Amino acid sequence: MTRRKFIAGNWKMYTHLEQARELARGVRAGLDATLAAQVRVAVCPPFPWLLPVAEVLRGGPVALGAQDCHYEREGAFTGQVSPYMLREAGCQYVIIGHSERRHGLNESDEFLNKKLHGALQAGLYVIFCIGELLSEREAGQTEQVLYRQLTAGLAGLSANDLTAVTIAYEPVWAIGTGRVATEEQAQQAHAFIRQTLTEQFGTAAAQSVTIQYGGSVKPDNAAGLLRQPDVDGCLVGGASLKADSFLAIVRAAL
Ligand code: 13P
Repeated sequence: MTRRKFIAGNWKMYTHLEQARELARGVRAGLDATLAAQVRVAVCPPFPWLLPVAEVLRGGPVALGAQDCHYEREGAFTGQVSPYMLREAGCQYVIIGHSERRHGLNESDEFLNKKLHGALQAGLYVIFCIGELLSEREAGQTEQVLYRQLTAGLAGLSANDLTAVTIAYEPVWAIGTGRVATEEQAQQAHAFIRQTLTEQFGTAAAQSVTIQYGGSVKPDNAAGLLRQPDVDGCLVGGASLKADSFLAIVRAAL
């Protein structure tokens, strides 16, 4: 089964407005038609920059994503952003369950599952992040953690719903540390994720799912990771903040 590679940039809480526009322009300009036909590309700026970046990306091959959303359509939820608002702002994607929210803000599997349902309802594609802590890996609990995050996180989804979901495997110890997972570690985790999805949703659905790797992906380690049979793309943090390095990772997907 050939799955088209998918490279997404998570800008986290970085960039000033003009930098965000410039970065989006650079990514758009560097993604020529041949490359765009072969690799799916998205960028996920901070909320306030979604509209201006949408303006820059309009009509081009680079998709827009947000970094989080609430599960309700609207309501008295001060400070939250509805998935429907994201659609209206031009987003096709939303990241849900990033470790900086799971562990930094104590977001539970159940809470993330509600967000996932809300986002799908709004018609967004979801990049659903999972991944173990260093202590969990060292205790031999990686698969147990991934299994729990997948089964609780994707609860209530149909095989058809799954077509709108990308899984991002981001081992927490590899995020922002420069300590990238080895190609073997990534492949092993991705194969386990696909196996778990097969049990939950059946072979056809699981074979179609895009599974990204995230955590210290750089231009010089991307190709090796992307060559692994179950690594279908990357979710890139730091290296997505420069058009050159992000585009080099996109090219590594070829
Ligand atoms: P880094 O690429 O900076 O390690 O971040 C990875 C990440 O968290 C992407 O969501």
